[in-house]
Amino acid sequence: MKKFIFMSLVPLSIFANGFNVPMQDYIDQLKVEAKNIDPNFNDFDSKRGEKVFTSKHIGKKGQEISCTSCHNIDLTQDGKNFFTNKSIKPLSPTVNQERLTSVKEVEKWLRRNFKDVYLKEGNAIQKGDVLYYINTK
Ligand code: HEC
Repeated sequence: MKKFIFMSLVPLSIFANGFNVPMQDYIDQLKVEAKNIDPNFNDFDSKRGEKVFTSKHIGKKGQEISCTSCHNIDLTQDGKNFFTNKSIKPLSPTVNQERLTSVKEVEKWLRRNFKDVYLKEGNAIQKGDVLYYINTK
């Protein structure tokens, strides 16, 4: 774990449509967990991830929200925090190259944001699927 955090601070080149090395390590770790949840698990799927990202749920404050409530349906555009109205930079790695480059940031925000929308942490399959989805944007 320490290794992931340390490596995530080191700027690394981003491969086209791929993840940098620490993020790929994190994805591989999620895949191992995913296999434990579902023995038939093969790979993460951005289509399933789209559903994770866009489907609505009764969230934190008893209101119906989805990931898009804060991050926008178009990930290349700014989002706006549903609760605080603060502006959020685009989530799309295509227009915001800092996105999905730090395991520490990604883990921290996935933990918080899944709780906002789903009232519990996402499992490895949901997390991997949604990261694949964001990474296609
Ligand atoms: C209540 C508002 C809100 C909701 C709902 C929300 N997010 Fe976020 N998200 C944020 C904020 C605020 C940040 C941190 C600020 C920033 O990075 O611009 C963030 C950051 C992130 C990051 C970090 C990306 C990076 O590499 O910098 C990811 C990934 C993410 N959110 C995914 C999700 C997913 C998946 C969902 C749905 C399960 C979701 N968010 C729902 C507000 C929200």
